[in-house]
Parts: sequence; C-alpha cells; structure tokens
Amino acid sequence: MQIIALINQKGGVGKTTCAINIGAGLNKLRKRVLLIDLDPQAHLTYSLGIPAHELNNTVYELLKGTVTLKETIIKRNSLFLVPSSLNLSGAEIEFSGVAGREFLLRSDRRISTRTKRGYKRNIFRAD
Ligand SMILES: Nc1ncnc2c1ncn2[C@@H]1O[C@H](COP(=O)(O)OP(=O)(O)O)[C@@H](O)[C@H]1O
Ligand SMILES: [Mg+2]
Repeated sequence: MQIIALINQKGGVGKTTCAINIGAGLNKLRKRVLLIDLDPQAHLTYSLGIPAHELNNTVYELLKGTVTLKETIIKRNSLFLVPSSLNLSGAEIEFSGVAGREFLLRSDRRISTRTKRGYKRNIFRAD
C-alpha cells in the first residue's frame, strides 16, 4: 500500500482537484484507490456526487472511533471514498487533548492492517 498526502494550509491551490484526478488516474491504471476526505468543507465528497451533509458515517466519526473504516467507505464507480462532513471543523479543538491525535487514522482501531492491504494506493488529503 502507498499513501499519498495532499496537504497545504492555503485554500484554492488545487488539493481537491489533484486528489480526485490523481485518484481517477491511478484507478485507470487498475490501482485500487481509497480517497480520504479530510476537509471539513467536504469538497472531495461533494465532487463525487455524495451529499456530505446527509451522512452519519464520515471521517469525523472514524477519528472519534465510533465507526469502523469499513462503515465509512462509499464506492463511486470504481473509486472508494471515506467522506468528510462539516462536523470535522471542530475536530482540531475536540481532539486537542488526545495524546497521539496525529496518529488517530493510523491506529489499528481505525484502519486495520487487513484493510490497509486491500489498497494498492491510498490518497489522504487534508486542508
Ligand atoms: N491545474 C489547474 N489549473 C487551473 N485551475 C485549477 C487547477 N487546479 C485547480 N484549479 C481550480 O482552482 C480552484 C481551487 O482548486 P481546489 O482543488 O478546490 O483547491 P483546494 O482544494 O486547495 O482548496 C478550483 O476552481 C479548481 O477548479
Ligand atoms: Mg479543497
């Protein structure tokens, strides 16, 4: 599995555009791609035609540990997505007291090794 992170503090620099296009491109090359939307504005989620505001299982719940990775994944054509939602906007403050919060997504509770192996390419993106 390979993880690609598209991160830049600045808005409007093409993170979402790159994530969706690199993801689709790798997918065309027959790579299994899991897109993870870490933007509270959920543009990546919306751009795949998914109404983020209607979802209960998103990357926010995944970070909280109330749902499993499997429960959050949505399939769109041959792309897989962990959607985001506006709830994520308060996460930085909410998790500020959690030790090791930088590694929440990596912890086995959130993403098991078995699930990781299922993906040849993962794209993590964040704002
Ligand atoms: N390579 C590019 N050339 C021209 N416009 C681009 C390019 N990449 C992105 N854009 C446009 O720039 C704007 C911001 O891109 P976006 O991916 O939403 O940025 P971010 O996710 O960093 O906020 C969008 O309107 C997008 O269509
Ligand atoms: Mg964006």
